[in-house]
Amino acid sequence: MSNSQKALEYVRSNRERYLNELKEFAAIPSISTLSENKGDMQRAAEWVAAQLRSIGMDKVQIMPTALHPVVYGEWMGAGKSAPTVMIYGHYDVQPVDPIELWESDPFKAEVRGEYLFARGTSDMKGQVVASIKAVEAIMKNDGKLPVNIKWLVEGEEEIGSEHLGDFIKTNKKLLAADYCLNPDAGMIGSDKPTITTGLRGLAYFELRVFGPNKDLHSGLFGGTIHNPAQALIELVAGMHDKNGKITLPGFYDKVRKVSKKEHEDFKRLPVKDKDLIKMTGVPALWGEPQFLPAERTGARPTLEINGLLSGFTGQGSKTVLPAWAMAKISCRLVPDQTPEETEKQMRAYLKKNAPKTIKWELTNLHNAGAALTETDSAGVQALAKALETVWGKRPYFKREGGSIGSVVLLQKYVGADSLLTGFGLPDDNAHSPNEHLHLPTWYKGIEAFTHFFYNF
Ligand code: BES
Ligand code: MN
Repeated sequence: MSNSQKALEYVRSNRERYLNELKEFAAIPSISTLSENKGDMQRAAEWVAAQLRSIGMDKVQIMPTALHPVVYGEWMGAGKSAPTVMIYGHYDVQPVDPIELWESDPFKAEVRGEYLFARGTSDMKGQVVASIKAVEAIMKNDGKLPVNIKWLVEGEEEIGSEHLGDFIKTNKKLLAADYCLNPDAGMIGSDKPTITTGLRGLAYFELRVFGPNKDLHSGLFGGTIHNPAQALIELVAGMHDKNGKITLPGFYDKVRKVSKKEHEDFKRLPVKDKDLIKMTGVPALWGEPQFLPAERTGARPTLEINGLLSGFTGQGSKTVLPAWAMAKISCRLVPDQTPEETEKQMRAYLKKNAPKTIKWELTNLHNAGAALTETDSAGVQALAKALETVWGKRPYFKREGGSIGSVVLLQKYVGADSLLTGFGLPDDNAHSPNEHLHLPTWYKGIEAFTHFFYNF
């Protein structure tokens, strides 16, 4: 038996333990955005560090940032002539609300059918464990790896990787690598291995509109005072025109055009309108008609209302004219837009369109850059071959609509391009109630990563 065969055998015979360890990790409520979970963030970082130590990694340490720590570890035994692959992950997860829609406890992982249900199983604790377990299989059988590796597992991905830029800048030398394997980008379907070649950026805002200095009787004052909820939704509604185009001044100036060739590539993707309708339960799709759905999420920018808050929303009725209103608004960006320019455009729009009857305040909550990645490096080839070996078909290459802050930061400060893939599926309910992981795909993913390292 070859060494890679032995490692694969090890993966197969340890599946149950791997699953139990993932359950343990998923039980830690590491919600990065909530301050009440700060202790859980530390525990999750410690869990990852303990795993890295147990599989023979060196220099494992929990390194502080201004908020949540980064877990680092390395194995540099392959020598100077071998490539160095960074493995990226995030141990933080999204909040669980609305909790009443969960069919089981979000932090008590439960197997139902072919799926493991718990917050973070798909995005991305399952992916972190998959990469750890592939390396474990190789180390336990071979005692060494075909490449050098460095781990970078952060705790702020779901809140925009705010302090990761400073961390990477300060630790440039420590983090030097040729490629970064990043399994946070998922795949199109369980039978469709995918390499992601681009991610959208993000600019996230909170907009507050202020009217009277307190809530008022709507009978006494309605008709003389501009209702802040109305003013807010008028402003927000005006951010799109009738055709769904975004009206912020200059918004499309830097948007890179989709070339004919890329349009043809998008056409070949197995993403169909009816699949999207089925997955989401909507009566019909929406968006720019001249672009395909996969193009609209991969290569076109958007502006979304993430939430609205104002006035009385409790049971029954209250005739009130609210004092203020708030909207959470985020823009997904594509090359060559930047979050900084988007903020300027948003402010210009508000200055121009806000009525004199109200005051407004805009806060930028977090940002991420848009990224395109190489499509034919030795790293991409090693990954493509690994996916093909396990799935028996060549991977799809696709631009994705989500954002991962580290990708641009690593390009910028380390000069390392990310190999974006993953074993999460579009219908895993990431960020939604009843998040789950498709276990047969996950087991395949661990095998694919084992091949990946031997492919160098
Ligand atoms: N795994 C996702 C990113 C992703 C989603 C990549 C779908 C490819 C396809 C990641 O954990 C995520 O949710 N990121 C946030 C980042 C944001 C808070 C800056 C996102 O995209 O909303
Ligand atoms: Mn996420």
